[in-house]
Amino acid sequence: MLDQANNQLLTQVGPGTPMGNLLRRYWMPVAAVSEFEGQSIKPVRLLGEDLTLYRDLGGTFGLIDRHCPHRRADLTYGFVEQCGLRCSYHGWLFDEHGRCTEQPYEDLCWPQADFKDKIRIASYPVEAKGGLLWAYLGPEPVPLVPDWEPFSWTNGFVQIVFADVACNWFQCQENSIDPLHFEWMHMNWSLRLEDRLGPYSPRHLKLAFDEFDYGFIYRRIREGMSEEDLLWKVGRVCLWPNALFTGDHFEWRVPVDDDHTLSVTWAFSRVPREQEPYVQQRIPAWHGPVRDEQSGRWISSHIMNQDFIAWVGQGTIADRTQEHLGPSDRGILMLRKRFLSDLELIARGEDPKAIIRDPEQNRSVRLPVAERKILTQGATRQELLRHPLLGKQLTNGFPFQAGQPDEVRRAYEDAMGIRRAR
Ligand code: FES
Ligand SMILES: [Fe+2]
Repeated sequence: MLDQANNQLLTQVGPGTPMGNLLRRYWMPVAAVSEFEGQSIKPVRLLGEDLTLYRDLGGTFGLIDRHCPHRRADLTYGFVEQCGLRCSYHGWLFDEHGRCTEQPYEDLCWPQADFKDKIRIASYPVEAKGGLLWAYLGPEPVPLVPDWEPFSWTNGFVQIVFADVACNWFQCQENSIDPLHFEWMHMNWSLRLEDRLGPYSPRHLKLAFDEFDYGFIYRRIREGMSEEDLLWKVGRVCLWPNALFTGDHFEWRVPVDDDHTLSVTWAFSRVPREQEPYVQQRIPAWHGPVRDEQSGRWISSHIMNQDFIAWVGQGTIADRTQEHLGPSDRGILMLRKRFLSDLELIARGEDPKAIIRDPEQNRSVRLPVAERKILTQGATRQELLRHPLLGKQLTNGFPFQAGQPDEVRRAYEDAMGIRRAR
């Protein structure tokens, strides 16, 4: 358990809070590049701040305050110009550095006042990587957006999936270092949801947790496995500070505010060797529902939807004074301890864990990947189909989240060279 003071410390993310300051040291994925094909403005709430993400007609992305500094109009209802975003109320224009570059009436009738030079709007750097748009709300010097190696893998179909989860980000991230839940929440519960009574999944016999430069690795041995198994030898990654990385996909838990989290998934599906060479022209992005419209209950059919149920079920902010941690929760204790000691590090003016500033270090940053051979070198269709995890998607569809739009399913099937019956 955690005392109330530490529970608050770890879960409050707003401006000026210790954990908010720590999380602002990291780039956060907030949108997909392809979302800006049909629109030029997206409202973003991140770390308790309401912001406007836009791409101007010149193609530059900007992230600025949601409210105009003139009389506070909502800039997500503004419109973009060649350079910058214009407020639709009285036409003030802002660039991506937060400068006010035009005030149509004042420029004409009161030019001697230099009024616009005195105006500044909050603005934050935005960068595109891996088809995602990343935002940085922290202090200078700005670190690099991590160039995780899957972003440059070839012959794969990538999709980006969002979901709004109505609870604090920290309980979502604790799930990233909780291997045991896989057996119950995903294997056994899925079985029961299909009205089958068994047999239940092989049980976990052994768990291990190790820290490395970019997070923690968790390893598992289940019945029928040995220490030669890749899920023990290589393991999976709780990626710092707010993601899970399983080899074929990342899941970021992006703190919207204390009570809300944006789930961002980046999923890579290697095409069968018969489809190579494959070059993806466009990384699609979609937003999945979390509730069943008819029943009003949470959707439970897909892996991450099941996780969402665990997270929101813990309460808006989990009351960790009431929990009872056992030996399978050792990783969770390590995670909390690392965050608490990183809070001390930044208070001393040092960088917290996993900040990358050296461009050399940031070239296709290598991570533990259990299925590395298949994901980087490829496999035939038959080999993929035989794979216990990677093959299922070919036959059963996107496993992680409910609501995949038909056009994304078709693009996936075209990439894979299949057409599933619907
Ligand atoms: S409120 Fe934005 S220009 Fe007046
Ligand atoms: Fe899970």
